[in-house]
Amino acid sequence: MADAVHTRRVFSGIKPSGGLTMGNYLGAIKRFVEMQSPDTMSIYCVVDLHAITVWQDPADLRHATRELVAAYIASGIDPDQSILFNQSQVSAHAELGWIFNCVARVGWMNRMTQFKDKAGKNAEKVSLGLYAYPSLMAADILIYHATHVPVGEDQKQHVELTRDIAAKFNHDYKVDFFPQPEPIIDGPATRVMNLRDGSKKMSKSGVSDMERINMTDDAALIAKKFKKAKSDAAPLPESVEGLKGRPEAKNLVEIYAALSDSSPEAVIREFGGAQWGRFKPALADLAVARLEPISLEMARLMQDPAEIDLILAKGADKANAIAQPILDKTYDIVGFVRG
Ligand code: TYM
Repeated sequence: MADAVHTRRVFSGIKPSGGLTMGNYLGAIKRFVEMQSPDTMSIYCVVDLHAITVWQDPADLRHATRELVAAYIASGIDPDQSILFNQSQVSAHAELGWIFNCVARVGWMNRMTQFKDKAGKNAEKVSLGLYAYPSLMAADILIYHATHVPVGEDQKQHVELTRDIAAKFNHDYKVDFFPQPEPIIDGPATRVMNLRDGSKKMSKSGVSDMERINMTDDAALIAKKFKKAKSDAAPLPESVEGLKGRPEAKNLVEIYAALSDSSPEAVIREFGGAQWGRFKPALADLAVARLEPISLEMARLMQDPAEIDLILAKGADKANAIAQPILDKTYDIVGFVRG
């Protein structure tokens, strides 16, 4: 891969905090797989430094890190084609993150909606890392001079902040060094919602397990969760416009579209006018058909943690080979003396 000519550099990451949901799969991993191609350098990271912005039990963190690697590979990330590694093994992320803490402004951080949501009324008690997290995320992307960043809708603001940090660094030091990365937010499932409340995002940390599909759920549980998913009284509409004001219906249609590699329009063409009693079992069958092979493969890969660790070590070497020269150059620009 070192001699291939890559016209795009893709970077993205996922936190190993708790289990992985279908939201992470449809909004992120599935799209990462689709972006692997010979003209793309793709770098996919398990962002463990980000995970500890909230408390993680060390044994759980190790498990979640390996399980996320298993999910990447089981979903189709090829560690020979893409660079797959965990963030803490490439220290340049943290080092550039510090420099960006000195570039980003407190006022910018105060506008981050995800911090406000996560900290809630508890803002005085959360870690300083949770507050500074977006500048580490900017470092994750820019330490590779990445040009494209596939993410779900909830990360858009952080990628925009990354662009601001790159621009301010270039302006302050009068260089044209860091690129302006593009967030890639496309497909029908950029914001998968909670199965019990269509106004909330599906997340790892939601209170009830029935709200989300976990990538480790078995077929029976996946089917049960879709059967019990909140819907509404009307049948499916005859056009996508009819999904307006029906968040639960819209979510289930979008999930179907993403799992079947089609579009909400195509789903409505097939199911317009159908009752939930027909649509939900079809959705459950589709979800099982798509997700069960991944969860079985994840379980198989998890039986050999040493192999997973080896993949991470090799990926970290490749990542480091790209990141270190960019960090060295950044140090020179900033004026740090190097021996
Ligand atoms: P994280 O770990 O919360 O989520 C990982 C990816 O999954 C997407 N996602 C969703 N997409 C659709 N519907 C949902 N319900 C849903 N829930 C999560 C997220 O948008 C994300 O793409 N800060 C990032 C991790 C990160 C990162 C980076 C991403 C750190 N450095 C650099 C890109 C580039 C995060 O917390 O994602």
